[in-house]
Amino acid sequence: MNFFIVFAAIFIQIHATGANVPAVIVFGDSSVDAGNNNHIDTVLKSNFRPYGRDFFDGKATGRFSNGRVPSDFISEMFGLRPYVPAYLDPAYNISDFATGVCFASAGTGYDNATSDVLSVIPLWKEVEYYKEYQNKLRDHLGDQKANTIISQAVYLTSIGTNDFLENYFTLPNRRSQYTINQYQDYLVTIAESFIKTLYGLGARKVSLGGLLPMGCLPLERTTSFLTGNGGTCNKEYNKVALTFNEKLSGLVKRLNNELSGSKFVFSDPYPVYEQIFQKPSSFGNVCFSRCFILLI
Ligand SMILES: *[C@@H]1O[C@H](CO)[C@@H](O)[C@H](O)[C@H]1NC(C)=O
Ligand SMILES: *[C@@H]1O[C@H](CO)[C@@H](O)[C@H](O)[C@H]1NC(C)=O
Repeated sequence: MNFFIVFAAIFIQIHATGANVPAVIVFGDSSVDAGNNNHIDTVLKSNFRPYGRDFFDGKATGRFSNGRVPSDFISEMFGLRPYVPAYLDPAYNISDFATGVCFASAGTGYDNATSDVLSVIPLWKEVEYYKEYQNKLRDHLGDQKANTIISQAVYLTSIGTNDFLENYFTLPNRRSQYTINQYQDYLVTIAESFIKTLYGLGARKVSLGGLLPMGCLPLERTTSFLTGNGGTCNKEYNKVALTFNEKLSGLVKRLNNELSGSKFVFSDPYPVYEQIFQKPSSFGNVCFSRCFILLI
């Protein structure tokens, strides 16, 4: 749960296709949730200060951030709306969602057991919402236009941290079933079927996000502080993030070869966050509240 993560500046390198991007479509957890959890029955919400204080109008929208989340910056960068609206937010309708929509839910994971912990939206349900969205889009714009949007949109996914921090390392169940290596492989099989499902539904440009150094998240460092370890990062968790990223990256390579016409990329936030955690001053105060680097 990335409570109080401040996303500092986004710096994006695009595999320059030069292609027009008509929409940004987002799946994942709190790292990209734009407020869907406000509209479901969970305690995991962020619709109160200090969340949102640097958002437009200083509004706490349900983003787990002081301001925007990475997917918002990316949308702006493509010349679209400067933020991606949450699918469950009744303030927006299909006209808005035609250029960008967010299905993400804070606290969720690849594993169904992870979304169960805090009764948030499981990944499979995010996909169900996406199917519903496709139908609404076809009704709204007609098949041809809708299909163009679906195939040319950029799909961003950012998920996985909670499977380890909220689930595997916290609750006994998965730990008794799987070694950490097996659990990673289990999550990768879910990631694989998720990407294949998106592909089957028409998605072609998908960015699969990896994990950041999750042992350095505020909660882990606070735990380290409280247990007398000086507030250092949890090295074991960081190692797990690195090996998981390697597996995801391998999956993306393989699927690119397997599925024709696909442009899948693995987005690795690890090195950038490592720099931010190691030397926050080099990013400056302003940047630290707005920086996040993503490789599309
Ligand atoms: C969406 O909402 C806007 C106003 O907020 C309205 O003008 C528009 O007609 C709505 N579109 C649809 C398809 O309902
Ligand atoms: C997660 O739950 C959904 C709905 O019950 C199910 O269709 C899916 O197979 C489950 N995923 C896994 C990996 O068990």
